[in-house]
Amino acid sequence: MEFYHYSVMAKQCIAALNIRPDGRYVDCTLGGGGHSYEIARRLKGGTLVGIDRDADAVAAAKKRLAGFEGLFRAVCGNFSDLRAFVDAPVDGVLFDLGVSSYQLDTAERGFSYRLDGPLDMRMSRNDPISAYDVVNGYEKEELARIIRDYGEERYAGKIASLICAARRQSPIKTTFELANVIKKAFPPSERYGGKNPCKRTFQALRIEVNGELKILEKALRDAVDMLAPGGRIAVITFHSLEDRIVKNTFRDLATGCTCSKNIPVCVCGRRERVKLITRKPVTAEQAELEQNNRSKPAKLRVAEKL
Ligand SMILES: C[S@@+](CC[C@H](N)C(=O)[O-])C[C@H]1O[C@@H](n2cnc3c(N)ncnc32)[C@H](O)[C@@H]1O
Repeated sequence: MEFYHYSVMAKQCIAALNIRPDGRYVDCTLGGGGHSYEIARRLKGGTLVGIDRDADAVAAAKKRLAGFEGLFRAVCGNFSDLRAFVDAPVDGVLFDLGVSSYQLDTAERGFSYRLDGPLDMRMSRNDPISAYDVVNGYEKEELARIIRDYGEERYAGKIASLICAARRQSPIKTTFELANVIKKAFPPSERYGGKNPCKRTFQALRIEVNGELKILEKALRDAVDMLAPGGRIAVITFHSLEDRIVKNTFRDLATGCTCSKNIPVCVCGRRERVKLITRKPVTAEQAELEQNNRSKPAKLRVAEKL
């Protein structure tokens, strides 16, 4: 399957990064290279490193950015190792979190409840744990916790029980087998029409398989550490759990001295590390939503290193 992905809020991201032609930039979620292409074509004397843990994405992006040899470098790896891949200081870092359309729409990657494929969901095929291992191996209570915490699914307990009952008969091997089990947890009125009842559970499993939330805060802090003064960090999120981590991390980094006003000198030693450029997240414009409905939940937050 040909790699494709619509780059969400590309215009707003490029504006947010304040690109200098001779600057040094990092795209932590290279995907098909759409955002990276827009950064690279604005550089003259500058450099861009693109990181993705999915080898298919790296191959596609290398092809797309082949014209920028010497300026662009692609790395196949996890952005949690950002410091190992790029030397500080840098002038801008972009995170466009989550999965690409290519990953979602490739049945054999096992991300989608709409396509039948093996229960996989690993962004990197070198990772040791797949959705099959989680669904067939985790204890019921642990499954329920993941589905509740990462999927914000109110039927989490029931879904976990049904999964355990089904796998006692035989292992759940495919996305469609899992989807059929999940649907049984919902009353008929919620099973049809409206949002697909599998959406939240599939999101939860994907987050668990890829450890998405566990690494995010540290990666954001590493990126801010690596920024030169005046450098920008821009982050696009696609669900409230991610957005909360970005919002709270940026807010914390933007907080200075917390000493009581009654103390004459600061004893806490805290200094603001960033200035918030977006107090409220930026969302996609109507024209973009009409072209790509996957932009709908996207939120862009931007901060500048002091
Ligand atoms: C939404 S897509 C990015 C699309 C890209 N901005 C574009 O314009 O084509 C997210 C990408 O980030 C990658 N990804 C997600 N988490 C990652 C991580 N922790 N480290 C490296 N890559 C990651 C995924 O494999 C996926 O290809």
